[in-house]
Amino acid sequence: MEVIISPTPEESARLGADIIAYAMKIKPNVVLGLATGGTPVCLYDELIRRRRDEQLDFAGVTSFNLDEYIGLPGDHPCSYRHFMQEHLFNKINMKPERTHVPDGMAVNIDQECLAYEHKIHAVGGIDVQVLGIGTDGHIAFNEPGSSLGSRTRIKTLTQKTREDNARFFEGGIDEVPRHCITMGVGTIMECRKLLLFAFGEGKAEIIAKAVEGPMTAMVPASALQMHQDVVILVDEAAGSKLKLHDYYNHIYANKPAWQKS
Ligand code: F6R
Repeated sequence: MEVIISPTPEESARLGADIIAYAMKIKPNVVLGLATGGTPVCLYDELIRRRRDEQLDFAGVTSFNLDEYIGLPGDHPCSYRHFMQEHLFNKINMKPERTHVPDGMAVNIDQECLAYEHKIHAVGGIDVQVLGIGTDGHIAFNEPGSSLGSRTRIKTLTQKTREDNARFFEGGIDEVPRHCITMGVGTIMECRKLLLFAFGEGKAEIIAKAVEGPMTAMVPASALQMHQDVVILVDEAAGSKLKLHDYYNHIYANKPAWQKS
């Protein structure tokens, strides 16, 4: 795992955008995996800026989002489809038909999950997957106890996740759905490159557990320790409880320039 501790979320976002832009340069039809929530917003803002100021071209890009609430239609203001339209898709030149978010209104959820896996497979898999992390250690919505080999499926959200996400719902926690469709840990582990972002003191403890703790289904993000190509992009606050904090900085400071994109 490569851990890059930046002074601010905006700097982490710039580094993440560099990695994504480089992937788009070497493979214009790159397949991106995308996340929602508060964390990736600064990354998406940076990608939008590069589209506007540097003509970064998303025309060939395909995307798959990690998850969606069950019971919310795509035009619901709290659905993840809506989030993606507002925070990224409407502001760059991606082809709408190449953006994929699970359908939380599907009549047959199991079929929708299977079809989602097939669609990922059909385009040759995900090249670069953006991840956030929940305070309980979830990645996508793989809550503690999730199988580390799991595939896209229905999950029941924990009370903690519903509380954390209540800030996005006008009516508070009662409006937060109890179920979601989420890529599995196994699905995520098959992505070629993983970028996990975390910002703020509230994420410090779980980042230390995920990166330096034992690998366990109780902290699904710890499964990333088994992945060959993961970059953990944190700000100072989220990286503050890492035991090897200074060593990670030393590694990054001594990284050859040609390896930095
Ligand atoms: C969202 C997702 C979740 C979030 C996590 C952190 O698509 O997959 O795992 O990344 O809940 O959320 P924020 O960024 O709001 O702290």
